This record gives sequence, C-alpha cells and structure tokens, in this order.
Amino acid sequence: MEASDDTQRRDFLYFATAGAGVVVSGAALWPLINQMNPSADVRALATISVDISGLAEGTQLTVNWRGKPVFIRHRTQAEMAQAREEAVSALPDTDARNPNLPGEATALDENRAIPGHDAFLVMIGVCTHLGCVPLGDGAGDFGGWFCPCHGSHYDTAGRIRKGPAPENLHIPPLALSDNMVLTLG
Ligand code: FES
Repeated sequence: MEASDDTQRRDFLYFATAGAGVVVSGAALWPLINQMNPSADVRALATISVDISGLAEGTQLTVNWRGKPVFIRHRTQAEMAQAREEAVSALPDTDARNPNLPGEATALDENRAIPGHDAFLVMIGVCTHLGCVPLGDGAGDFGGWFCPCHGSHYDTAGRIRKGPAPENLHIPPLALSDNMVLTLG
C-alpha cells in the first residue's frame, strides 16, 4: 500500500506523463497500440481488488483502474461533518454521480461514500472539466481536492464547489467485502 505523503506530486506526475505520451505517440503508433488493446469483452471484465483494511484515517491511496487514477480516502470525522453541512440544493452539481445507486440519487455525502463505511470515499481521480488529475489531501478552498489546471475546487465528498468543472468527481462501480477488500469494476 502506498503512503499518502507524495500523493500530490505523484498525481501531477501521472497527468504530466500521460499528457506527454499522447503528444509524442501521435498517429504513427496508433495501429500498434490498437492491436495491443484487449477486446471489449476483456476490458469489460477488468476488475481490481485492493485491501484497504490498513488505510489509516486521514490518508489517501491512489490506484490505477482501467488506465485511470482512483482515489481511495479514509476520511476524518471532521471531513465527513464538513461534507454534511452543505445543503445539496446549494451545490453546482446535485447528482451523486454514483453508478452504484439509482440514477436519481442526489449528491448527499451519504450517497457518495461507501454504504455502511461512510468514512471511505472512492472516486475516479479525473477532473470533470478537461481531465487533469486533481491534487488531494485537503487541497483547495473546500478541504478536499483541487485541480490546478483551471482552478476547480472539490469538497471533502469530492463534489465540485468552485471553478469550471461541471460535475462532481465520478464514483466507480465498487463493492467492499466484510474484510475490507475493495473491488473496482
Ligand atoms: S481540467 Fe480541471 S479545472 Fe480544467
């Protein structure tokens, strides 16, 4: 399990590396890359499991799932309380963005966290503006995540609060076992 200390720097490097790859590869490499792509069937089955039983309160882990960073944060009581203070109707995006719930679920903190383990928040770490990887560990004006590309601030439930991003950070399909093994996909 990775420590959280270098998360912000790693997140930025992830974006920078991915961005450079797109620029340098160009069309010449596309046929090769396309050949190497797994079939749609294989991609659809892609799941990963992560043991989060040792993830300490107030820390965050970033894993790679289907080529995207996924943030797994064990929130503090203060972070949860802060997320629950705000009325959903006052949020820029009132949708939970959680495919594990019915489509009409609103962006209540309870609808963003893992049911029964509300301290744990799992989100795809891709800014909903233009796709940068936000910085975490209390970054930004709302103590959650901050995307430095164009200044989007997300709160402690990963909901957009300020800046150009139109949607809350998306939550991946997930399940958590009794022994705290998280499965994504
Ligand atoms: S990509 Fe995040 S603010 Fe623009």
